[in-house]
Amino acid sequence: MKLQTIRGVKDILPNEIWKWQWVESIAHKIFLRYGFQEIRIPVFEDTRLFSRSIGETTDIVEKEMYTFEDRSGDSITLRPEGTASVVRAYIEHKMYAPPSVTKMFYIGPMFRYERPQAGRLRQFYQIGVEAMGSPSPIVDVEVMTMLIEFFHELGIEDSKLQINSLGNQSCRPQYKNFLKLEIKKYLNQLCKNCNNRYEKNPLRVLDCKVEQCKKVAKNLPKMIDHLDKTSEQHFTEVQKLLDIANTPYTINTNLVRGLDYYNMTAFEVTSENLGSQNAICGGGRYDTLVEELSGPSTPCFGFALGMERLVSLIPFKEEANPNNNSDIFLICLGESTKIPGFQAAHELRLAGFKVERDYELASMKSQMRKANKSNCRFTLIIGEDEVDSGNYVLKNMENSEQHKIDSNSLTTEVEKRVKI
Ligand code: HAM
Repeated sequence: MKLQTIRGVKDILPNEIWKWQWVESIAHKIFLRYGFQEIRIPVFEDTRLFSRSIGETTDIVEKEMYTFEDRSGDSITLRPEGTASVVRAYIEHKMYAPPSVTKMFYIGPMFRYERPQAGRLRQFYQIGVEAMGSPSPIVDVEVMTMLIEFFHELGIEDSKLQINSLGNQSCRPQYKNFLKLEIKKYLNQLCKNCNNRYEKNPLRVLDCKVEQCKKVAKNLPKMIDHLDKTSEQHFTEVQKLLDIANTPYTINTNLVRGLDYYNMTAFEVTSENLGSQNAICGGGRYDTLVEELSGPSTPCFGFALGMERLVSLIPFKEEANPNNNSDIFLICLGESTKIPGFQAAHELRLAGFKVERDYELASMKSQMRKANKSNCRFTLIIGEDEVDSGNYVLKNMENSEQHKIDSNSLTTEVEKRVKI
């Protein structure tokens, strides 16, 4: 039997991981600047957490969760997203911080049983951000501009920010009923999926990707024409602040998001270079979720981005791979060099040098080939003569200059010539 990864699941190999580590380091740097601290949430949770927060009628809860009974009969689900867990943690650990905002970010794998295709996996990674405790539109815009700054720093220039308002509890129910009545008129033109879900979740008809549904959606009533005063003011303010921050955006009145907890601002960032799965990031305001999960009233705003999609957009240069080079490549020639070579590598690594080596005592030519391949800046050559004399040879691979190095003061001698 050939064992291999499950469909929709990917290894991230060593020749790719440096890109991920770099992206994560930039995320840490920029998010900390805005006051976000990392939280590590569990990979699995009580199933009820997700069904109650994401929404019973969403695709995720209806058909995409990895749910199983553990050995004590409890229903467990591999997290399909991070927001629900962060909210659970916020309530469980009483992380309330009024009058200031609790700001957290997380990085890790999520699991959804979707049909795998380019850019759509069953285990994928997200970087997510949640700002908890303020209804201010300044929070919405700070978080969105932080995200755009992050993309710029990564060298992604073609991303597009789309925003919409989904209103709140005092205007959305009426709009939903109105929308349902309007959709009813076009049912014979809509796909099977929309026919099935419009009763329970009519907003999803607005962002159906099927061509014929898109045509119908163009003529359906828009949420932003049915906002109450508070929601309208909020949305106007968000646009004003985005303008002040010089952050370009478009209003997409059909943007509704696939999770039920949103209200007011909803947004997505897309890229034309991604193909059909073109969303790099999605998020928005969720002001009632904390309360719905039995916490205190806490208005929140957040987003999550898909790492695989993000990394595929960054114009990396292989030379930038920090794992693809070393300071020193150790070349040992002859049986008697085994122990002195081992000691030299050990000593130099303890002093902070990145040392690569061959373990087979192969020929000079073969070891030199490996040294070149390792992109080392220097080679340290130890042959039997060098062991006898106590003087090793340090060769600069850029200009081929060679220096004698006294093995008794190896580290200090090397430090003079090789800068870390
Ligand atoms: P989401 O839109 O479901 O939102 O996911 C966010 C991002 O995760 C997407 O834009 C996409 O880049 C990536 N993603 C989603 N599903 C897949 C998949 N199957 N394969 C690869 N990438 C995928 C959320 O998860 C919300 N929790 C975001 C949020 C945080 N809202 C408020 N706070």
